[in-house]
Amino acid sequence: MKAILFVALILYVNAGPSINLADHAEVVPQEAIDYINSVQNSWVASKQWVGSMTMKNARVFASSIFKLDTDYPEKNWGSLLDYFTAPSSFDSRTQWPNCIHPIRDQGQCGSCWAFAASEALSDRLCIAKGPNVVLSPQWLVNCETNNKGCGGGNSYLAWNYMMVNGTVLDSCVPYTAEDGNCPTSCTGTGTLTKYYATSANIFTNPTSIQAEILTNGPVEANFMVYQDFYSYISGVYVHTWGGEVRAHSVKMIGWGISGLQKYWICANSWGTSFGMQGYFQIAFSQCGIDTYCVAGNPKV
Ligand SMILES: *[C@@H]1O[C@H](CO)[C@@H](O)[C@H](O)[C@H]1NC(C)=O
Repeated sequence: MKAILFVALILYVNAGPSINLADHAEVVPQEAIDYINSVQNSWVASKQWVGSMTMKNARVFASSIFKLDTDYPEKNWGSLLDYFTAPSSFDSRTQWPNCIHPIRDQGQCGSCWAFAASEALSDRLCIAKGPNVVLSPQWLVNCETNNKGCGGGNSYLAWNYMMVNGTVLDSCVPYTAEDGNCPTSCTGTGTLTKYYATSANIFTNPTSIQAEILTNGPVEANFMVYQDFYSYISGVYVHTWGGEVRAHSVKMIGWGISGLQKYWICANSWGTSFGMQGYFQIAFSQCGIDTYCVAGNPKV
């Protein structure tokens, strides 16, 4: 009897604080922070960015529509990948120091899919020796009507839109964090000049993703966000506690290795007080991070 009680107690303790996904619930209660920091040492949880945010607000920060039923075109490397060995680490910020644009803040609008797409294309334009410009996530929010604006969107549809219809400068249509009509002239400054992608592809395995980042620059990555992710402050994220919130899109800029753990380096769009100055590291294969990346080449 004592043994059974003991086992039951261990199982109870190991499950961590109970999970509450109701709108008014705190996304990461203090007990969860303490639990995460006590059961693993890969990453550090903190209240720094998340504070006492509710589940309702948390859901807005992660509003990507992960995969659709349609099969989108996967990048075809031919036999090239047979001869490709990725270096153990790679960081776009050191490779192309002037082209990786600053971290941005999507605010209370489910536009992660538009930020990751426009930021990755901005970086790629610069890398391809094109103009070093910042493209407009707001243009995608307002004009890419196959997605749902601040209500969320799919990253392939965003790239396909940038390929077919193009996008404009951030200075032309500045970010408002609200839905609105597609403007016919700049709401900011300048003229409605279009910037295009020349392709849109998906990348569904680590080797293909690494080859793409190394060759052409950052990609848009998608992954499932769990409650604990909101408390990430440093280290290599591995899902440790909490229920599924929603899928999220971010800009992936490289990878590295810590001990034996391979990780991806990603730029979030939750401002610079999230994670490591707005960036985070996530272990390979965690939460689908390396199963559905999207990118295309810029039209220079
Ligand atoms: C391009 O824009 C038109 C007009 O807004 C829209 O109907 C169409 O779906 C867009 N194309 C893509 C690929 O998103």
